[in-house]
Amino acid sequence: MAGVKLNNGATLPVPGFGTWRCDVALLHAAVVHAIRVGYRHIDCAGLYRNEHIVGAAIKDAIDAGLVTREELWITSKLAPTQMEPALVLPALQKSIADLGVGYLDHYITHWPYAVDPANTASPAPDAARLGYDLQAIYLPVWREMEAAVDAGLVRSLGCSNSTAKKLAALIAVARIPPVAVQVEMHPCLAQPKLVAWAAANGIAITGYCPLGSPGRPDAYRAEGDPDVLGSDVILAFAKETGHSPAQVALKWAAQRGTVPLPRSTNPGRISENFEGACGAWSLSAEAMTALEALDRSTGSVGRIMKGDNFAPAGAAWRDMWDAEWEPTATA
Ligand code: A2P
Repeated sequence: MAGVKLNNGATLPVPGFGTWRCDVALLHAAVVHAIRVGYRHIDCAGLYRNEHIVGAAIKDAIDAGLVTREELWITSKLAPTQMEPALVLPALQKSIADLGVGYLDHYITHWPYAVDPANTASPAPDAARLGYDLQAIYLPVWREMEAAVDAGLVRSLGCSNSTAKKLAALIAVARIPPVAVQVEMHPCLAQPKLVAWAAANGIAITGYCPLGSPGRPDAYRAEGDPDVLGSDVILAFAKETGHSPAQVALKWAAQRGTVPLPRSTNPGRISENFEGACGAWSLSAEAMTALEALDRSTGSVGRIMKGDNFAPAGAAWRDMWDAEWEPTATA
């Protein structure tokens, strides 16, 4: 099994199977198909409101003898409205129950930004946006997540939509450090500074929207967004290697040591994506360099998922990403 070694000794399987905004009528069959063709890593979240469907599919795959629980890596996420110490354990237990997996391999904060737990409006009004505060909000939540590791409910912790700056601050005070960070990542948002920082600090990177999320709803579209699969560079290397544009994007991600989390409910594309990420083929050094050059991280220009739903009152979405932050020393 292809995988990335983590700072706690575990191996994170490559690729992961993304479950955000999947057609609920197709999701069960998609998860079973993914497991059948070799995916061993499933990326879930309470916020996706479909963990019960994913869980039923995992159970069916295990019952059919396709996989054992121990062979799977299951991630779930703590929602921004659950960033309060008393809410962590119930949220984690609900994900474990919905997924029916006994324990999680990885539990991560969905966003570093908290939203008032009483809020039900989406997007949250300004008054409900509590922002990021390491000492007052984030660390007390992290302490509960550490206690969940001690209790055997989860085997590793991580952070989603975080930045090197926020991760470095967390690592300085965490008893159980994160093993990974999950961020949007594709050739147009390659984030070489984050990749270098993470490698130097023993943090793995999982990448969502590895295909540039071509089927995303209009609410997540903005002028100037990158068209990853339509990029001339990707199309040229797809032609050269005889692979699809999606396979080129996923091989690039895996070959640079990150863990892409492609999403699909189409059986053919689920298989295509698995073969793209970890099939026995590789991109040339020239292709890797050319793909890396598509990066538009500077100024977050290449970012599709801007996070403006969670931007604290008065902050521009770009402020959330600590743009251009570089460490002066490793954490
Ligand atoms: P579908 O479920 O019909 O396959 P991302 O992982 O970047 O968020 O992208 C997910 C979107 O990309 C989904 O709309 C999915 O649609 C589509 N998709 C997944 N795999 C492929 C592929 N190999 N080629 C083209 N589109 C794909």
